[in-house]
Amino acid sequence: MPSALPDGEPVPADGALPASALAGAADRPLGFYLHVPYCATRCGYCDFNTYTATELRGSGGVLASRDNYAETLAEEVRLARKVLGDDPRPVRTVFVGGGTPTLLAARDLVRMLGVIREEFGLAEDAEVTTEANPESVDPAYLAALREGGFNRISFGMQSARQHVLKVLDRTHTPGRPERCVAEARAAGFEHVNLDLIYGTPGESDDDWRASLDAAIGAGPDHVSAYALIVEEGTQLARRIRRGEVPMTDDDVHADRYLIAEEVLSGAGFEWYEVSNWATSRAGRCLHNELYWRGADWWGAGPGAHSHVGGVRWWNVKHPGAYAAALGEGRSPGAGGEVLTEEDRRVERILLELRLREGVPLSLLRDQGLAAARRALSEGLLQERPYDEEGRAVLTLRGRLLADAVVRDLVD
Ligand SMILES: C[S@@+](CC[C@H](N)C(=O)[O-])C[C@H]1O[C@@H](n2cnc3c(N)ncnc32)[C@H](O)[C@@H]1O
Ligand code: SF4
Repeated sequence: MPSALPDGEPVPADGALPASALAGAADRPLGFYLHVPYCATRCGYCDFNTYTATELRGSGGVLASRDNYAETLAEEVRLARKVLGDDPRPVRTVFVGGGTPTLLAARDLVRMLGVIREEFGLAEDAEVTTEANPESVDPAYLAALREGGFNRISFGMQSARQHVLKVLDRTHTPGRPERCVAEARAAGFEHVNLDLIYGTPGESDDDWRASLDAAIGAGPDHVSAYALIVEEGTQLARRIRRGEVPMTDDDVHADRYLIAEEVLSGAGFEWYEVSNWATSRAGRCLHNELYWRGADWWGAGPGAHSHVGGVRWWNVKHPGAYAAALGEGRSPGAGGEVLTEEDRRVERILLELRLREGVPLSLLRDQGLAAARRALSEGLLQERPYDEEGRAVLTLRGRLLADAVVRDLVD
């Protein structure tokens, strides 16, 4: 089962936020994340908050059903409108993620976007993304999304090799994600991302190169490449423990990352976050940039997290409990916390160090600055922005060791 939510303070039944959260809101961009908690089957490596029909059977009944989901989620958007009051901001980004959003009918995704438009309005140049599984879309579906206002789409490709897809339990065939990119372009999508995973047990360097080549050849303007994380409690973790598939070691992950950087930069992609590359500034995912830069976002849907003005909260995880709360006119919030100044400082360092623009040295304290000087001398931080602009920016080697570097910088 998916991992548990953190503890926190209870969320008031009406979802009200402290006045401090709304102070200065007009100066911050606002985004919406809409979670769709359904998948046809569960991939063995995944611990996201998502449920198959079998997992839902008998737990939550009709309330948890995906047939009513768009309307249930619309209720939370209306709640957001009440909570944010006369906040005049149009929504800058919408990101529909999952789970598998494309298990819902295209009209349901368009309806979910429509309620945001009705309640808040969309900025003229709003970025509107959905994640999509390659096996669950076709040209008519993509055209309906594009017509309904989506302008960015992110396909879960993961690998171009059948034996790798098999270990990951992916149900699409090699070649299908690349055709999805062509179909999305034909439907008029301006921005297309492919998600890749490296370090799957049994994957070779050549397999990884083939996946990168296939992804690039398809013509997306964005590629995300994630090291496979073996999450506790997943089927993949059990298979590794039983010795059925080998664990990938950290050196292999590092080699694969270097290959990704070499192949992607050779093809005109530029990294802008440790795991994300884009062909241009316009190709970057603005929604993720809102997260990474501490803007405001409302996460609607079971288990979704939100952040407004230093207040963070998260929803109940189960789709049945989520629908029940909204049906009774209550906030589906399960817990929340007001971030302290120190929490916000640490969070900024954790997130911004992973960005191409790096983190301002003014956020570091004495111990962190000493650690930054050590990282600089070890070639983990770049020399120039450090001196000239007072920013810590990772080198390529630093990107390989980002987690370790950041641990010392927050002290
Ligand atoms: C949670 S999925 C949702 C989108 C869609 N259902 C899919 O599978 O493509 C978003 C992305 O997270 C990444 N992901 C999920 N679990 C992961 C894991 N354990 N390790 C690395 N990446 C993972 C995959 O690349 C996936 O495309
Ligand atoms: S399809 Fe995506 S969200 Fe669903 S189980 Fe697989 S990786 Fe997780």
